[in-house]
Amino acid sequence: MASFQLQVNGRQHTVDVDADTPLLWVLRDELKLNGTKYGCGIAQCGACTVHIDGMPIRACCFPIGKLAGKNVTTIEGLSVHDDHPVQLAWQEIDVPQCGYCQTGQIMTAAALLDRNPDPSDECILRAMKGNLCRCGTYPRIKNAIKEAAQTKMS
Ligand code: FES
Ligand code: FES
Repeated sequence: MASFQLQVNGRQHTVDVDADTPLLWVLRDELKLNGTKYGCGIAQCGACTVHIDGMPIRACCFPIGKLAGKNVTTIEGLSVHDDHPVQLAWQEIDVPQCGYCQTGQIMTAAALLDRNPDPSDECILRAMKGNLCRCGTYPRIKNAIKEAAQTKMS
């Protein structure tokens, strides 16, 4: 076990864990940031998606020992008042069904719009294809991303 410093949602934290501990468990168990979900644990479903330096990554497979100098953003830090354009569009379109996958969907969508403010349908499908939804909310997810893109550009 060792001591690691990490920057999460603009705050510095120190945790004592093994270097190979996945970021997901540091977020959930050490920092009590439970918005990021566990789905598969093998980087196949996207439920655990967070941003590292603005890029979407799978927290279930990212070891804490590789985080030095990087900034982590979770769903709790995406916006101050849950009013990121993607979150607002999600509410407007009423995207979630059971909701379990939606943190990961929102984080991936937000990172997409940061890279590409006006993505085509094809870009959206490509960016989102690693985020699985057992409830089949894919059409609403695509519509909400389009809606968020319009809000961001207006
Ligand atoms: S829990 Fe991380 S990708 Fe499924
Ligand atoms: S809303 Fe239920 S798994 Fe996606």
